[in-house]
Amino acid sequence: MSVAKRDLEDRKVTTHRLIEMKQRGEKISMLTAYDYSMAKIIDEAGMDVILVGDSASNVMAGNVTTLPITLDQMIYHGKSVMKAVKRALVIVDLPFGTYQGNSKEALSSAVRVMKETHADCIKLEGGAEIRESVERILTAGIPVMGHLGLTPQSINKFGTYTVRAKEETEANKLVSDAHLLEEIGCFAIVLEKIPATLAARVASELSIPIIGIGAGNGVDGQVLVMHDMLGITEGFSPRFLRRYANLKEVITSAVQAYVEDVKREDFPNEKEQY
Ligand code: KIV
Repeated sequence: MSVAKRDLEDRKVTTHRLIEMKQRGEKISMLTAYDYSMAKIIDEAGMDVILVGDSASNVMAGNVTTLPITLDQMIYHGKSVMKAVKRALVIVDLPFGTYQGNSKEALSSAVRVMKETHADCIKLEGGAEIRESVERILTAGIPVMGHLGLTPQSINKFGTYTVRAKEETEANKLVSDAHLLEEIGCFAIVLEKIPATLAARVASELSIPIIGIGAGNGVDGQVLVMHDMLGITEGFSPRFLRRYANLKEVITSAVQAYVEDVKREDFPNEKEQY
């Protein structure tokens, strides 16, 4: 679809609009954000979906995995983002340990996110094993996005961040989990780091949007972690990551110039004082 044909309406993006976008073949853009200032820039730049991802655990809090981030911390990030966003659909991740135990706990975690952040929907990781939790959250009228493939909250089970579902058994389970999530009412699914052919198959079999990260171009949309695509994080270069800027370089030279100006008493000058 050409840029000219894009749906650039100012009205709020909804889960229904995402399904319409899939139906007419318009790709969905999605990016993470965790704070007010960046969410404002990303929303005004025309992003369709903003994910308050639990990748905040890595890029904001400096943890090695997504596991340590708490529900309170996700709510803090969700609230900050929601104050900035006018157009994009905003999704908040339910963090590890807040929905896998039982469906009652899952519902109360999702309700807290919706009440305290005012976000549009939630995302959680897994298929058949979390069916009851997903169903109970959906029953309360909360839209749910699924997440299959490389699910970072299960990194201790996987042992590595390598491509998932290359083997037939895991691929079959992923396809059946995707169908299950659609059947029970999820509005979309993220597929992370799986073979492109498998992702394209899921996208063609399902009528809900499939958003890929490291899942090729045959899906209905793409998501990246904002700090990765802006070149803020370093030492992380998976094949799927395209860096659209090198903000680390930009920030470093700006900070170095400021330090230099302070040291040589060039800042502030006469016009910059009262
Ligand atoms: O937390 C996150 O940033 C995510 C994306 C990688 C999809 O779940």
